[in-house]
Amino acid sequence: MEPAAIATVAPAAIRASGVSKTYQLGSIEVRALHDVSLEVAAGEMVCITGKSGSGKSTLLRQLSLIDRPSSGTIELDGVDVSGLSERRRAALRLARLGYVFQEYALIPELTAEENVFLPAMMLGGRRADYRARAAQLLEGVGLGDRRRHRPKELSGGEQQRVAIARALVNTPAIVYADEPTANLDSVSGNVVMETMQRLNRDLGVTVVFVSHDPDDSRFARRLVLLHDGALIAEPVEVES
Ligand SMILES: Nc1ncnc2c1ncn2[C@@H]1O[C@H](COP(=O)(O)OP(=O)(O)O)[C@@H](O)[C@H]1O
Ligand SMILES: [Mg+2]
Repeated sequence: MEPAAIATVAPAAIRASGVSKTYQLGSIEVRALHDVSLEVAAGEMVCITGKSGSGKSTLLRQLSLIDRPSSGTIELDGVDVSGLSERRRAALRLARLGYVFQEYALIPELTAEENVFLPAMMLGGRRADYRARAAQLLEGVGLGDRRRHRPKELSGGEQQRVAIARALVNTPAIVYADEPTANLDSVSGNVVMETMQRLNRDLGVTVVFVSHDPDDSRFARRLVLLHDGALIAEPVEVES
């Protein structure tokens, strides 16, 4: 039989078509995104950049299925996910997508290892398997000796690396990060960005991150520039 996959052009990992987002604040409309169209190929590492208030976080939330655009569509792997039920979208987020936030968003009562395996536990599976995977992922982000620590016993940079390990636990196709280094000093920020770059280069995970810091954006292979909620330039290739 012909191997069909070889003849097929792989669909973009993410395709946003004509995406707009308007927030309603009482009687005031805030137009946060206007008609943004963007493709991210599988295996890319893309940085969304622009000034504060330019719509970076809003765009990331649309691309990552945390929010729904006011108009326009989002496709993942060639499938339009805009119209899916909230339940289907939640299942997709848990199984296929990983998230890293500026504030780490770890659960304070849980150990590093428990924080990492929580999304795997939610997906089901054997405890022994996801515990082993969490330990391996923590090892991979250089925190093999911090498994039993709680978030408050870890530095900001260490907490963010726990968050990266958590984002990877269900083997996502895409990891999204919103200003992952904004709360960190430049040394820890660099370690976090190097960790993100490794998961892109070594594991083949597609990475889309937001940053306004040139120290971070140089880790991307491509920059997407936003201004007042619109893409202002063709994506820029970055020398790396
Ligand atoms: N939940 C919200 N309700 C109303 N306005 C919002 C909301 N979130 C963001 N905005 C507005 O949308 C614009 C873009 O915000 P945001 O995407 O957070 O920008 P950035 O991440 O680039 O700083 C800003 O004018 C902001 O005030
Ligand atoms: Mg933001």
